[in-house]
Amino acid sequence: MAEPFFDHPFLKGHHAATRFEADVPDLIIRGEIPDDLAGVFYRNGSEPLYPPNEKEYHWFDGDGMVCGFYIEDGKVSMRNRWVRTPKFELEKEAGRRLFGVFGNPLTTEPEAQGVRYNTANTNAILHGGSLFACMEGAPPTRLDPETLETLGEYHYDGSISTTFSAHPTVDWFTGEMFNFGAMLNGQDGGNTVRFNIINKHGEITKTDYFETPWLSPMHTLLLTENHVIFPVLPIECSLQRAKEGGPLVSWREDLPTLVGIMARDGNCSDIRWLEMEPRHMYHEFNAWEEDGKIIADVAAGDNTPLYPNSDGTIKAHRDTTQSLRRWTIDLSGQTNTVKEEVLNDRDIHFPRPDDRMMTRATRQTFANINLNSVDGRADGMDAVMRYDTTSGEEDVYHFGPGSHCGELIFAPRVGAVEEGDGYAVTLVHRPNAKESSLAVFDANNIKAGPLAEAVVPFQVSSGFHCNYYSADSNLYQEAFVSGTA
Ligand SMILES: [Fe+2]
Repeated sequence: MAEPFFDHPFLKGHHAATRFEADVPDLIIRGEIPDDLAGVFYRNGSEPLYPPNEKEYHWFDGDGMVCGFYIEDGKVSMRNRWVRTPKFELEKEAGRRLFGVFGNPLTTEPEAQGVRYNTANTNAILHGGSLFACMEGAPPTRLDPETLETLGEYHYDGSISTTFSAHPTVDWFTGEMFNFGAMLNGQDGGNTVRFNIINKHGEITKTDYFETPWLSPMHTLLLTENHVIFPVLPIECSLQRAKEGGPLVSWREDLPTLVGIMARDGNCSDIRWLEMEPRHMYHEFNAWEEDGKIIADVAAGDNTPLYPNSDGTIKAHRDTTQSLRRWTIDLSGQTNTVKEEVLNDRDIHFPRPDDRMMTRATRQTFANINLNSVDGRADGMDAVMRYDTTSGEEDVYHFGPGSHCGELIFAPRVGAVEEGDGYAVTLVHRPNAKESSLAVFDANNIKAGPLAEAVVPFQVSSGFHCNYYSADSNLYQEAFVSGTA
């Protein structure tokens, strides 16, 4: 018997757990889904099967629930499924929560000790003909792209059996996936990071290793046509600190942010490390090369909105907001610093480009932003924006006070070639509504409001990362048509 969930900002309102799985074959459409929008939209999120067994909870701690929206001929169908990880199955069998927050062994019950803490809740990506539900502390979990049935943890022929970032970057030009695994040996292991390149067929073509100066739960890497960039943030995991009563993962103001640069065909031993002021940067817009420089447009802040300080204190939201910033790195090696400028100071966390153009110069940023929320961490983002980094044009739509929307994802028109030719899609929940909806915008006229909303007849709790794959993309074709899934 499941116990009631306790009162917590991340367990109520738009965060309230849905706790059921559904198949909705043909969603009610308000407006009109364009005929030239065809593909699939995935969203992964944190949906605790059982309430936590301790009076502390973190949004990142729920079980992965993947939503799939399948768009074709003006119609949208959707389904959602929990990811059947070993953690999920063990707790379902026990009928209660067994793991501590972030898998903290100090608060994990005996029957779950030694079992991998894999929530599979952070991202859902297509690559090599498969759909993967990812979280950074475990190998990816393979799902059926159509039914969302869990097929099991995927270890790439035994090559990846520990951590694997939930933020792999896929170069749509080559089909290669670039990724890493940090904290390979867990919360009290060494600082070794594993770097991998996986080709378009899903085969590992490179495995290499490097060390970081502290145990950093790295979240993302950036990729250009010729280089890989590894941000190492002043965020530290320390089991020793947790044993002494402090936070397991914390912000360390006394540490810098490190930025490692490596040639895509180079070796980790050749990484050039640059140092900058402490910055939080979990999500990039895009990175590319221009005139002997790397240009990286990122969502960054002077502090983290996610973790407490080492002493356990938590900063106010206003002190942890992120803005759209441009990091410029001189590839000649003459300057060993990262130049930073703020492009747009909206409260922004998840800027996304036209994914097809990643690694090459882009100017249209799509993002969900916080206009009126008191606390962007718990209240979430209530508006969407296209921002042109070249002209400075803002194209903003506000869903209204108390609304919450997820990432705004560019969805190309079928057959589109040019950057930004198509639509932009986000999952939105309005306050006290018993439904959520997939809102579809004209990518070049966000301020006009949604062209259409596909109505989900229940509240989809807020989640994490989203991706859209157009039916004419290689990644979609390999998953849905080639039959390699
Ligand atoms: Fe993320």
